[in-house]
Amino acid sequence: MDSSNEGNLNFYDLHPKPADFFAEVIDGLNKTQKSIPPKFFYDKAGSRLFDAICDLPEYYPTRTEINILKQNSDEIADHVGAGCLLVEPGSGSSHKVRLLLDGLRPHAYIPMEISREHLRQSAEDLGGDYPWLDVHATCADFTSTIRLPYSPEGIRKVVFFPGSTIGNFEPEEATRFLQELAGLVGPNGGLLIGVDLKKSKDMLHAAYDDEQGVTAAFNVNLLKRINRELGADFKTENFCHQSFYNELLGRVELHLVSQCDHTVSISGECFSFTAGESIHTENSYKYTIEEFQDLANKAGFRPQAVWMDDDSLFSVHYFIPP
Ligand code: AVI
Repeated sequence: MDSSNEGNLNFYDLHPKPADFFAEVIDGLNKTQKSIPPKFFYDKAGSRLFDAICDLPEYYPTRTEINILKQNSDEIADHVGAGCLLVEPGSGSSHKVRLLLDGLRPHAYIPMEISREHLRQSAEDLGGDYPWLDVHATCADFTSTIRLPYSPEGIRKVVFFPGSTIGNFEPEEATRFLQELAGLVGPNGGLLIGVDLKKSKDMLHAAYDDEQGVTAAFNVNLLKRINRELGADFKTENFCHQSFYNELLGRVELHLVSQCDHTVSISGECFSFTAGESIHTENSYKYTIEEFQDLANKAGFRPQAVWMDDDSLFSVHYFIPP
């Protein structure tokens, strides 16, 4: 593990090797329903596009969750308690945690993010704005086993997992992931998690297929990234962004749909596409409060509190191990 230290900022590099990206892309494109895991959206360009999605008028989750965190920050602080080791898997720009830091005064903050440059920049910004906070930025794929580079004894661990990123896991994977978090935080830890709620199809369609085409660019950037990093020759004009709410499964699906019959090579491995065939790039599951509490319960967490907006669009839960 590479690590460095500057003032209140420590940086640890547990980034997966490029071979993992190649192997997972090849594996996904060999499936009958071609697919690529959504974690690969987040290179530098993809992370920027995701930040732009969060600012879109149609993309309600970010601003709704921010309002929930702002309006309930005192109560949240009462539940979480001061002086914990605050771990944020998939921390992105570390914007939301800022709403909690003054109230929580954590012992230290561990942002974990696969996108190295994005992590470095946001950790530097945060460390500069909160000079009293020890930041242990960790570049890692949190969807594989979570290893904490810093874990002092006797300090309670609390995981902050906002943004409904949990919705990008299959429900069984989500249960396994929460089980891992329960093990990570231990018997006196906690989990503060943002979960998007079930709602009208129209609102979901607009949120994942915005007018300005930012979500489409985010989806298509995956192909550009594969071209850049894995020596592929995807012609992006041969693919169209598609998203829809699959009511039966309770999830929004993102696809890249081939517009014609054609072949793509990735470092010499060839894949043929027929017109209309898609690469499934993301699922975003939506839950009711009860559905999510059941899922967390299976993973070994007990509900402590839940906060919502007035329109019941989004929820923030606090769970503790039993
Ligand atoms: C990161 N994740 C929770 C987002 C979501 O809503 O599922 C990713 C996203 N995909 C398209 N728009 C946003």
